Amino acid sequence: MDVSNAQSPIEPKSLLIHNLGFRLSMPANRNMRICLKDCVIPTGCGPQGKAPVFVPRGTQVGVNFGAMQRDKDVWGEDADHFRPERWEGMKLGWHYIPFSGGPRICPCQ
Ligand code: HEM
Repeated sequence: MDVSNAQSPIEPKSLLIHNLGFRLSMPANRNMRICLKDCVIPTGCGPQGKAPVFVPRGTQVGVNFGAMQRDKDVWGEDADHFRPERWEGMKLGWHYIPFSGGPRICPCQ
């Protein structure tokens, strides 16, 4: 992860702690969308969660940021622990979404 954003007045170590805080306790805990057309999410179904998921038009899809950001499968057994150094060298991705993601990501992140 690039925490040394040249435009940010915040020092990198503060950003690590900021990320840590928003991972464990995010102001926006959930998000929801309504599917506008039939689609297939590549993984998430089946006993191992690796099979595609068909999502028909009109389905309400909820995302629980809090559960995702404490998921031990993603963050490891110490997922609930205060360990800012876990962010060093980490690339931000869909495992960390306190500001959501994609085209509607919070512009103020
Ligand atoms: C800790 C502070 C903040 C958090 C955690 C946060 C989080 C979020 C999240 C999760 C979304 C996505 C909502 C969705 O897709 O349904 C969002 C969208 C948005 N946020 Fe923030 N936000 C924060 C601060 C702010 C501030 C200070 C502003 C403006 C001054 C702002 C403006 C917006 C706007 C305009 C959107 C809509 C973007 C779009 O739909 O294209 N946010 N924010």
